[in-house]
Amino acid sequence: MRETTTLLAPSILSADFTDLAGSVETAEKAGADWIHCDVMDGHFVPNISFGPFIVQAIAKCTDLVIDTHLMISDPDRYIPNFVKAGSNQVTVHQETCAHLHRSIQLIRDHGAKAGVSINPATPVSTLESILPDLDLVLLMSVNPGFGGQKFIPSSIGKIRLLHELRNQLNPGMTIAVDGGVTVDNAQELVSAGADALIAGTAFFKAENPAEAARKIRSASR
Ligand code: DX5
Ligand code: ZN
Repeated sequence: MRETTTLLAPSILSADFTDLAGSVETAEKAGADWIHCDVMDGHFVPNISFGPFIVQAIAKCTDLVIDTHLMISDPDRYIPNFVKAGSNQVTVHQETCAHLHRSIQLIRDHGAKAGVSINPATPVSTLESILPDLDLVLLMSVNPGFGGQKFIPSSIGKIRLLHELRNQLNPGMTIAVDGGVTVDNAQELVSAGADALIAGTAFFKAENPAEAARKIRSASR
């Protein structure tokens, strides 16, 4: 179910990989809600990150929701492994799925919540038919592939549109925004309709992550 307070999901991509457990602990102590795991295959996106093995290591050291973002071609091949690794919710890209309902069903069949993500150039209207079947939409506000990119301003209009659509078709669905989220734009994103904010750089590279988390989570509609 959708929450009424703003959910914060630090993206582990920007964490210190020599101390994953410590990074997760920092997120927990700062009051994070989810741990966002960015999986990149060097094919759908121009970068390679990590696979189920790392997701499992992260899941082992926390009770926080493991939110896995699959930026990979042919995600159906790997969905079972990522759920088995401990993902509580798995998000696939609309652009990578020829039969989106099948991918969503596969995620559910393995026992996780199901999400769909769209790139900045993909219209919100492409989600209309699948929306009633989703737990989550992850709206990309940068082109996926790297942390630390600049927020694309036209994403605000897309959040508003998605929010309207969500209210009509699936009020319990969560709207998450991913890419270029900062302490300074969090309020605008939540006002537009975001329920959950993914923050890599803004959290892990902050001088004081707990303070950054407090500010981001205090954004309200
Ligand atoms: C981008 C990833 C994002 C990214 C966010 O491809 O999906 O989750 O790690 O990082 P920041 O918050 O630094 O933009
Ligand atoms: Zn992501």
